[in-house]
Amino acid sequence: MQISGESVVVTGGAGFIGSHIVNALVARGNRVTVIDNLTTGYREFIDTSPSVRFLEGDLLDQTFLDKSFAGVKFVFHLAANADIKDGLSHPRKDVEQNIVVTQNVLEAMRANGVKNIAFSSTGSVYGEPEIFPTPETCPFPVQTSLYATSKVSAEGLLSSYAGGYGFKAWIFRFVSMLGPRYTHGHVIDFWRKLRRDPTRLAVLGDGKQKKSYCHVEDCVSAIFTTIDKADKDDVNIYNIGRPDTLEVNESIRIISKTLGVTPTLEYSGGSRGWVGDSPMIMLDTTKLRALGWAPKYSLEDSIVATLKFLNDNAALVEKTR
Ligand SMILES: NC(=O)c1ccc[n+]([C@@H]2O[C@H](COP(=O)([O-])OP(=O)(O)OC[C@H]3O[C@@H](n4cnc5c(N)ncnc54)[C@H](O)[C@@H]3O)[C@@H](O)[C@H]2O)c1
Repeated sequence: MQISGESVVVTGGAGFIGSHIVNALVARGNRVTVIDNLTTGYREFIDTSPSVRFLEGDLLDQTFLDKSFAGVKFVFHLAANADIKDGLSHPRKDVEQNIVVTQNVLEAMRANGVKNIAFSSTGSVYGEPEIFPTPETCPFPVQTSLYATSKVSAEGLLSSYAGGYGFKAWIFRFVSMLGPRYTHGHVIDFWRKLRRDPTRLAVLGDGKQKKSYCHVEDCVSAIFTTIDKADKDDVNIYNIGRPDTLEVNESIRIISKTLGVTPTLEYSGGSRGWVGDSPMIMLDTTKLRALGWAPKYSLEDSIVATLKFLNDNAALVEKTR
């Protein structure tokens, strides 16, 4: 589907991935409305181009949403509670921020006759799969985190609205993204700990978990490649990730080398870092690659770019909210 030049909404457009999507939309000639409540996003990340309008507000406010979607052609729904690890300490948060908010977005679309939506889901929906690399068709009968549960539910809402109201949906299941404006995940956790004390590093699990990562620019190019080229189905589901994995220990080696530190590693033990941690994530991106997409950044380049952003923006990302 061609959306260049159209009026679009990006929820979570002040966040890590959403702000890069906004940059790409501006470059493609779109008029962009960013909706964000700045809970985990940053005003400083929002594109300052005149074609961008920022509405600070909460997606739980249906009246605000209904007003914001007037005249829009396409919605990129990125806003969410993106944290997996601490889900069990606030069990309603994923339901409210990831399920209720998604339905609010769909209802605002319905109220304004908007039919097209791209949604940021996660590779965590596969739980602990038995197939690697894991294709989009892999069964995921058992969920291991409230976060992934909420994303499965949100995917279900999109499919139901597509079937019931004639919506067209693009669902993207991401691996962990890295790169500029990264503000949550294992690299910032290690970076923070090593800034406090470069001589030791507490590691969740046994360090042998194998994860797949992807640079945020590669993620954004994958999203636009798919929307541009794959629109024949009402619901278009695509994994986004690289074909390789990195052991947590190898990630620590790259981080330590880049920061010039040699910490003693203190493992909490066990093959999972927390309840819901998946010891192995590697998504099959054959479907995406068939559209002509390929990642440009290696895993190591992506980690180094992330650390450069964190070092250059330490005051911003460490700012008390
Ligand atoms: N970063 C990753 O590696 C990753 C991996 C898989 C999936 N995802 C998904 O991609 C999306 C973007 O993730 P991110 O890493 O950019 O996260 P992020 O936290 O940087 O961005 C989320 C944005 O949504 C905003 N937001 C949250 N709740 C809101 C609400 N109720 N009303 C208005 N704004 C709200 C936040 O302020 C923030 O700017 C999320 O849906 C996340 O679940 C991210």
